[in-house]
Amino acid sequence: MFVRSSPAIALLAAASWSLGVQAISKVTRSGRYLYTDDGNRFYIRGIAYQEQGEVDANDPNNPFLEPSSFIDPLTDGNACTRDVQFLKELSVNTLRIYSVDSTKDHDSCMKTFSDAGIYTIIDLALPLNGSIDRLAPSWSTNLLNQYTNTIDVFSKYDNVLAYNVGNEVVVEDQTAVAPYVKAAARDIKAYLNSKSSSALVGYAAIDGKPNWRDPLANFLSCDPSGQNDGATAIDIYGLNNYEWCGDDTFQAAYAGTNGDYAGYNVVAYFSEYGCNSKPPRLFTEVAALFSSQMSDIWSGGIAFSYFPASSALGQFGMVTIDGNTVTTSDDFNNLKDEYGKVSPPNTPSKSDAATSYPACPSTNSTWLASTTLPPTPNEAACNCLESTLSCQFSPKTANYSSVVGELINTGCGLLGQNGGNCDDIGGNGSTGTYGRISGCDPTIKTSFVMSEFYEITNRNPASCDFAGNGTVNPLAPSGVSAANAAASSCIANPSATFTPSSAPNSGNGGSSSGGSTSGGSSDQNNAVALIGDSRALGGMFAMVAIGVASGICTMLF
Ligand SMILES: *[C@@H]1O[C@H](CO)[C@@H](O)[C@H](O)[C@H]1NC(C)=O
Ligand SMILES: *[C@@H]1O[C@H](CO)[C@@H](O)[C@H](O)[C@H]1NC(C)=O
Ligand SMILES: *[C@@H]1O[C@H](CO)[C@@H](O)[C@H](O)[C@H]1NC(C)=O
Ligand SMILES: *[C@@H]1O[C@H](CO)[C@@H](O)[C@H](O)[C@H]1NC(C)=O
Ligand SMILES: *[C@@H]1O[C@H](CO)[C@@H](O)[C@H](O)[C@H]1NC(C)=O
Repeated sequence: MFVRSSPAIALLAAASWSLGVQAISKVTRSGRYLYTDDGNRFYIRGIAYQEQGEVDANDPNNPFLEPSSFIDPLTDGNACTRDVQFLKELSVNTLRIYSVDSTKDHDSCMKTFSDAGIYTIIDLALPLNGSIDRLAPSWSTNLLNQYTNTIDVFSKYDNVLAYNVGNEVVVEDQTAVAPYVKAAARDIKAYLNSKSSSALVGYAAIDGKPNWRDPLANFLSCDPSGQNDGATAIDIYGLNNYEWCGDDTFQAAYAGTNGDYAGYNVVAYFSEYGCNSKPPRLFTEVAALFSSQMSDIWSGGIAFSYFPASSALGQFGMVTIDGNTVTTSDDFNNLKDEYGKVSPPNTPSKSDAATSYPACPSTNSTWLASTTLPPTPNEAACNCLESTLSCQFSPKTANYSSVVGELINTGCGLLGQNGGNCDDIGGNGSTGTYGRISGCDPTIKTSFVMSEFYEITNRNPASCDFAGNGTVNPLAPSGVSAANAAASSCIANPSATFTPSSAPNSGNGGSSSGGSTSGGSSDQNNAVALIGDSRALGGMFAMVAIGVASGICTMLF
């Protein structure tokens, strides 16, 4: 719903205007830099602002301590009023928020921060099934709807700087998931354009070896068409960087990374920083990050973290909170001193020169991502398909997301034993091939797999049981070839890209999970491998856990 224009509110607005409260300046991208309305360069003096969700610190399979739930920090107006004093004291101008609940009201917090001149960077992913699963990736209607629902709710605010389409999705051994992230960026960019929103499209990357970290950055901002077209490019690249620990130096900590991004074409910033291996943190990296040594390349960064956030490497919070009482730490005071001192160069000045979108990195043994991207998830086509399926998944619980993974595994296994396969629901980001149903909701994929098995066994009633999860659809066209024809007519153009429209239930709070806790997080076996790479420290703070249907990959062949 839009802002009500009652007389009382109009009066209030007039009053605050006459008292000199100015609207927050619009920040826009020009090439690789950010500028405020008046043409000054904008640097992100940021802090991560989200309480930690539930994490099982004793789970050996979860070294990154990825939470399984989240607490939306923008719904409690009193808490935001309590915190804004401290954020102002830090001279913070940007908050990064990792997960928000699109069914809740954010008006009070967003206004409190806007009035204080504070922007927000909103991550669109949610824990568990609310993010792209790097082990069984898909860019699908359920995620697209979740993302656009959030945008619909936040687009009325004047202080959303950017929306991130993913956090640390792509990792060293899973670079072929990058086309799914780029497809998300493409569709979210088109969606924002269609709403005349000037908010930027971003991604926050885990740090790692340059042999895949750098091509990932270039891939996300490149143009696969060779037409210098930014339609599939992110606007703002975040690097979760923990290279500077203690009283380090530019040369020792940042020089290498800085050089790697020297020629980057879009905005870059540190989407997390603040190594705490030598507490208390001195935050001397702030002076380096905002100095002319780095300001040609980076537009500031997000210190991690305002709220307490613990990981295997200790405690990263800068305040402790007891009710309405906020207690600051040495880290807080040090960051405050450092942010208070910075005065980064106001150069280069804003130019009208168009951004260049270079060709995409070619693939090699450390960079596997195809430039053929998944299509735009097509809800109408998926719904049409669903109505033709002869065996339908009928979840017995609202909390179905973990069941879906198991059922798809089981169904694909059965199909394999009977001469079928699950290619239609899968995809391969390194070959750039995507099954025609890969963009559908996991529940529709489940029904599809069940139906294929039901048909391949000549509609043996027992084949649609799936331990009580399946229901026969008597209206479905009969026989494998009829089912196939129906599917083809629904999904007539499986590789189409187009501008998504608002989700059907957007704004009514219909579909957001508000933090489901189900689903296995089996990506964490890969994560273990990363721990050995000190550049990947940031991975611990991944606020996004991955997890449904993680068996799809293994069952595809
Ligand atoms: C693959 O290409 C990237 C540049 O896109 C490069 O950084 C990396 O070193 C290359 N990997 C190998 C094994 O040559
Ligand atoms: C995640 O799963 C829950 C049910 O477990 C569902 O309500 C929610 O819509 C799902 N979210 C997405 C993005 O698929
Ligand atoms: C994708 O295809 C490549 C090349 O055929 C293959 O090596 C790889 O295992 C496939 N990956 C997945 C996840 O299916
Ligand atoms: C549905 O499938 C899940 C996963 O295989 C199974 O645990 C459950 O018992 C099945 N039946 C019902 C009624 O949920
Ligand atoms: C959802 O189901 C999973 C697995 O069945 C369970 O671990 C989790 O606690 C459930 N979550 C809720 C909110 O009921």
